[in-house]
Amino acid sequence: MNVKAVIWTLVILGLVGGIIAASILLTQGSKKDDNKETPQDIIYGYECKSNKCVKVLIDENNFKTAVSQSVCNLFCEEEPNAIGTLWPKPTGKTTIGNTMVHIDPKKIEIHGYRHEYYNIAKERFMRQIAAKFTDDADIINKDGKSFSVNVVTEEGDDVQKLTLETDESYKLTINDNEAYIKANSFYGARHGLETLAQLIVYDDIRRELQVVGKAEINDAPVYKHRGIMLDTSRNYYSVEAIKKIIDTMGSVKLNTFHWHITDTHSFPFEMKSQPELYKKGAYTSKKIYTHKAIGELVKYGRAVGVRLLPEFDQPAHIGEGWKEELLTCFKYQPWSHFCVEPPCGQVDPSQDEVYDTLEKIYSELYEAFDAPDWFHVGGDEVSVECWNTSSTLQAYMKNRGWGLTEQDFMKLWGDFQVKALERLDRITKTPEKVPVVFWTSRLTEVPYVDDYLDPKRYTIQIWTTGFDKKIEDLLERGYKLIMSNYDALYLDCGFGGWVTDGLNWCAPYIGWHKVYENNPKKIAGKYHEQVIGSEAAVWSEQIDDFTIDSRFWPRASALAERLWSDPQTSWRDAEHRMLVHRERLVENGVRAESIQPEWCRQNEGECPI
Ligand SMILES: *[C@@H]1O[C@H](CO)[C@@H](O)[C@H](O)[C@H]1NC(C)=O
Repeated sequence: MNVKAVIWTLVILGLVGGIIAASILLTQGSKKDDNKETPQDIIYGYECKSNKCVKVLIDENNFKTAVSQSVCNLFCEEEPNAIGTLWPKPTGKTTIGNTMVHIDPKKIEIHGYRHEYYNIAKERFMRQIAAKFTDDADIINKDGKSFSVNVVTEEGDDVQKLTLETDESYKLTINDNEAYIKANSFYGARHGLETLAQLIVYDDIRRELQVVGKAEINDAPVYKHRGIMLDTSRNYYSVEAIKKIIDTMGSVKLNTFHWHITDTHSFPFEMKSQPELYKKGAYTSKKIYTHKAIGELVKYGRAVGVRLLPEFDQPAHIGEGWKEELLTCFKYQPWSHFCVEPPCGQVDPSQDEVYDTLEKIYSELYEAFDAPDWFHVGGDEVSVECWNTSSTLQAYMKNRGWGLTEQDFMKLWGDFQVKALERLDRITKTPEKVPVVFWTSRLTEVPYVDDYLDPKRYTIQIWTTGFDKKIEDLLERGYKLIMSNYDALYLDCGFGGWVTDGLNWCAPYIGWHKVYENNPKKIAGKYHEQVIGSEAAVWSEQIDDFTIDSRFWPRASALAERLWSDPQTSWRDAEHRMLVHRERLVENGVRAESIQPEWCRQNEGECPI
């Protein structure tokens, strides 16, 4: 990249702005306090030196060559074909010219299709642009060009549901004050808009909005399943907070929101056919998710490129809301003898009514989530000790001629799995059976896994460590995997304990660097094609609306780049871009965690050792 050319072109294009900037400098000290159009003092600009944006004091001699940091970041990049502010990095051929075009934020037009998702995408795009400057008074240099964005897709108005198999690729071309986005699906097109929004910046020296004047970006994700998981049972989140998470996912092209909606602690899902489940099971009558609210989130999710994947965790992690006679060990103490965290609770698989209730729950989840293309059936942390507290369950097992060994309890669990899946298959309406996801557990281990879980049907979500031998056992058997290895992707780790003092169970805290470098292809080796993606998980024992932003962001963004771009470089190459990205999250109202002193962002490359 010829940075000098960029700078000179900027000077020419920003001539009017330059004159204003010059007059700002010349009139400093004599400005009138009551003049709204008087900008604040401009002290610093940036120069690109050896691929780093260097902060320089602006004076009469250098103000013409100094560019704002936002512009410098775009072009001043080491890697070939990279654009210094895009997150995640594009994967296909990318070229960028060396001009910026001054545009008028009031004259941006997006030409797409009539489908309502386009309206949501447009509104969102305009919101992102508006967030780049504080208000109209911030734009001093007003007479920019109009800017038109033309979107063309294969599917046109006939937008299909977002599924795991949706083609999300797109091509973005920018030519002066026009942009073109070409994609097969709406979902690819909306990704293109997301990229385009990142190529529009506010130049705080010329005090105007600018877009990269020439670019061609070909882009498509490496992994199909790029997700985050939220637990809304341990603590409740408002529908607004969930919408905001989904919205932010869209900005980094994450495409799957896995919703762990219920657990032993609370049952916040509105059940029309069996209302006592949520009436008794929710924390309060307001802390619920209605079908209507979920339906709106599903729709909004699609409009921002995010599919919702419901999980009903079973046969453990069940309690509040259920009839006590259908449960075993519910709220037993001392809890540590029967489960991994209070309160304990599992369903009693010997009772037919359990399956009838499950069928109703599946049916209503399926309806509320508008026929999701996948379904998560839980399977987390079943405790044999819990089941073994029930004398009726023991009697049931003895009647079948079984013993009470671990092997017998695994058979009980395996049978439960078969029966529960039959109920799920009764209510789904597709010709093909819905693929299901299942957490790693005792049942996914050898030898049980071979007896009860069909690899054609079950995808296994790994939550053990990334170096666990069990991962290879599963891959050898042909299972598809979603990686959520807790040593890199459990974002609730590393805070204070909640059942005792000290730190919580999975401490230490995981930095974004580790999330970024957790490479599923490396973990899976020769079987890497069986890994469909990963998810960062937030278990919510110690998190709610008020603290969620900083748990997910910007660490989930690090995951987004791993999954979209599969970078072959380390976090070090992404570090400065991450700092820029974090500011963009904040600009859009996300209370993302601060990861370095601001000084490091202003003094590129001076902090990492
Ligand atoms: C279940 O409890 C019985 C006693 O009631 C005991 O003999 C058996 O070993 C227990 N099974 C397991 C797997 O702990």
